Amino acid sequence: MRPFLLERYFAEYEFKAAGLLSASDCESLGMDELLRMATPASLELWRDLRLGYTETAGHPLLRAEVAGMYDGIAADGVMIAAPEEAIFIAMQTLLAPGEGVVVVAPAYQSLYEVARHIGCGVTRWELEPERDGWRLDFGRLARLVDERTRMLVINFPHNPTGHTLTRPELDAIVEFARARDLYLFSDEMYRLLEYEPGARLPAVCDLYEKGISLAGLSKAYGLPGLRVGWLATRDRTLPGRWLAFKDYTTICSSAPSEILGIIALRSREPILQRNREIVAGNLAVAARFFARRADLFAWLAPAAGPVAFPGWLGDEPVERFCREALERTGVMIVPAGVFEYPGEHLRIGLGRGGFSATLDRLEEHLRDRLG
Ligand SMILES: Cc1ncc(COP(=O)(O)O)c(C=O)c1O
Repeated sequence: MRPFLLERYFAEYEFKAAGLLSASDCESLGMDELLRMATPASLELWRDLRLGYTETAGHPLLRAEVAGMYDGIAADGVMIAAPEEAIFIAMQTLLAPGEGVVVVAPAYQSLYEVARHIGCGVTRWELEPERDGWRLDFGRLARLVDERTRMLVINFPHNPTGHTLTRPELDAIVEFARARDLYLFSDEMYRLLEYEPGARLPAVCDLYEKGISLAGLSKAYGLPGLRVGWLATRDRTLPGRWLAFKDYTTICSSAPSEILGIIALRSREPILQRNREIVAGNLAVAARFFARRADLFAWLAPAAGPVAFPGWLGDEPVERFCREALERTGVMIVPAGVFEYPGEHLRIGLGRGGFSATLDRLEEHLRDRLG
């Protein structure tokens, strides 16, 4: 499998950099903070926890909490796994060599790399930058599929652009998939971080009988260290195949993480509210910064979620700009090449505390360098 460029980039710099301007997760919660939110019943689960193996599909109470967040999903339509593991398991079980996959691009690499490694043909459905945001050309979709196509892969709110769909657009994709009997794999890791409730799309697993929703606690909940995510579907043929595959990845999830996950989901409203407020505050700071430096960046305001993908208008390649910012200021910014995106863009992460101070460091560097 080819190296995962984004993850290798983070592996190299994340724990050395003085400031991260491109993280996609929200500011993580502390253990104490989370435990203080626990209801008496879930605190008891934590205190009584025994560190044995757990059920492969996930703790029954955790699956019940997850299922309860959807309209039409029963607990046996949910499998708990680390989000990245869930992508791997879904692709390995649903795809075969020679089949085709259409993926919205740019994309989080595993959303197409696993399929490519299996031997599938991967076709990119490119998001295109416009003056104020991003656009997906629906007229192109029919031309991207053929008789080998087995799956459509979408991810809204989108990483890295911050684009999202309208409800009619999502319905059109579902109808398209249904008419051709395609699986619709929907990465919903950034769902629940919309800027207004009206922008929230339904989960694909609730809309389509061959829809699969991926979600988890890493991004909107700020709990990536738990490594808790899930796949949810109404297709009754799928969970058994996923579980048989999970025997070859982790067998079961981490017992402490499952209980902490239950605690988080039972307290989801205050956690999500906290994180939406962080994103909203940082979004306002970012919009002001990019307006001040319109000579160097095209902001392309995100429509939902904790990341944006502004254009870089400077003379040198964006890779060089990011490397120099890191070397001179310690601020880590992810350039577009890490997403195998050919344009001059960079990813900005809006979910972290200290965002404003990190951006100040970058602004000072720009002033010193360019005036
Ligand atoms: C779109 C998307 N899907 C899945 C994942 C994987 O999540 P995790 O790192 O928690 O496994 C990420 C992480 O960055 C992501 O951006």
